Amino acid sequence: MESTGKRIYIFDTTLRDGEQSPGSSMNPTEKLRIARQLEKMGVDIIEAGFPIASEGDFLSVQQIAREIRGAQIAGLARANNEDIDRAWEAIQEGANPRIHTFISSSDIHLKYQLRKSREQVLKEAIAAVERARSYTPNVEFSPMDATRTDRGYLCEMVEAVIAAGASTVNIPDTVGYAIPNEYGALIAHLVDKVPNISQAVISVHCHNDLGLAVANSLAAVLNGARQIECTINGIGERAGNTAVEEVVMALKTRKDLFGFSTGINTEKIYKSSRLLTQITGIPVQPNKAIVGANAFAHESGIHQDGLIKEKITYEIMTPQSVGISESHIVLGKHSGRHAVSEHLKKLGFNLTDGELKKVFVRFKELADAKKNVFDEDLEAIVYEEVFRAED
Ligand code: KIV
Ligand code: ZN
Repeated sequence: MESTGKRIYIFDTTLRDGEQSPGSSMNPTEKLRIARQLEKMGVDIIEAGFPIASEGDFLSVQQIAREIRGAQIAGLARANNEDIDRAWEAIQEGANPRIHTFISSSDIHLKYQLRKSREQVLKEAIAAVERARSYTPNVEFSPMDATRTDRGYLCEMVEAVIAAGASTVNIPDTVGYAIPNEYGALIAHLVDKVPNISQAVISVHCHNDLGLAVANSLAAVLNGARQIECTINGIGERAGNTAVEEVVMALKTRKDLFGFSTGINTEKIYKSSRLLTQITGIPVQPNKAIVGANAFAHESGIHQDGLIKEKITYEIMTPQSVGISESHIVLGKHSGRHAVSEHLKKLGFNLTDGELKKVFVRFKELADAKKNVFDEDLEAIVYEEVFRAED
């Protein structure tokens, strides 16, 4: 993996963590279509699945690893030999395949779920990384529930797994509990306190339970993280994961602030979002950033007026930069005369000031009565107010 200081790596987990979103399970053919689209979009790593989970998942990961050459293929494994061996079996034919192994590190998980001591879990983490390392140098380790883990223990674990050969250490906010300055500070703490941290790429993996997954990921980047784990449309467990389209466009639009690039061809973003929606049947909310139906729609009269004069007044990125052909103006009760006049011109009506005045009055009456005014409505008004008056 190229390691210039100015590059953020995008690790897409739509096919693994994303698929854990209720109602999002995909069959192997659908997963392969998504993997091909992710490759076209330019993601660096595709987490193709959890091979030990089922025979179907194993075969699907294997098929993706065999076919996709333009991205690294990762397979998830718990920190035990059986999982790691199975993950390797599935991904070994991939281009620069990666084993991603994980174990919980928080006392809450150790006490109630694993029922193991910190010492025992640390030993298992090291053994897992060594086992994965016996197959490939491309090994990622995640201390699950890192954000609720004792900081001293987290540093100890991160240092130990890097010494054991992990090339990427991922710091998951598994339950979406962190807030941006806290999560950023946690990454800064690891950079400061773990002596061998520069030997590994620091990765972030945020869940969206408090609606902060993208913000947390960006805070981590400002403090030393260089890989972001994310999913198309932000799908994932519960409230989802960091949305790839949002985090990538934030880095691009505010490059002045972050100073990093990704390898993503952002013009493929919208198509990727639509493909996932078609396959899973899970719609995107209209006001969703970047890919929602309203992300480039303008209804306020003041905004419409500004936009007609110069797009930059109310658009911080172009719709074309994410693969949407153009922004659109929605005619409704908030629209002003300028927007209505421009829209009428597009429909082929060049009205005099007097005609426009009459049409605009009727337009406002109608807009008060119904949510949106469509082209057919406007045409009917023009016919009644202008052409019928001439008859
Ligand atoms: O949220 C999480 O902790 C995970 C790990 C497996 C990385 O998905
Ligand atoms: Zn997760």
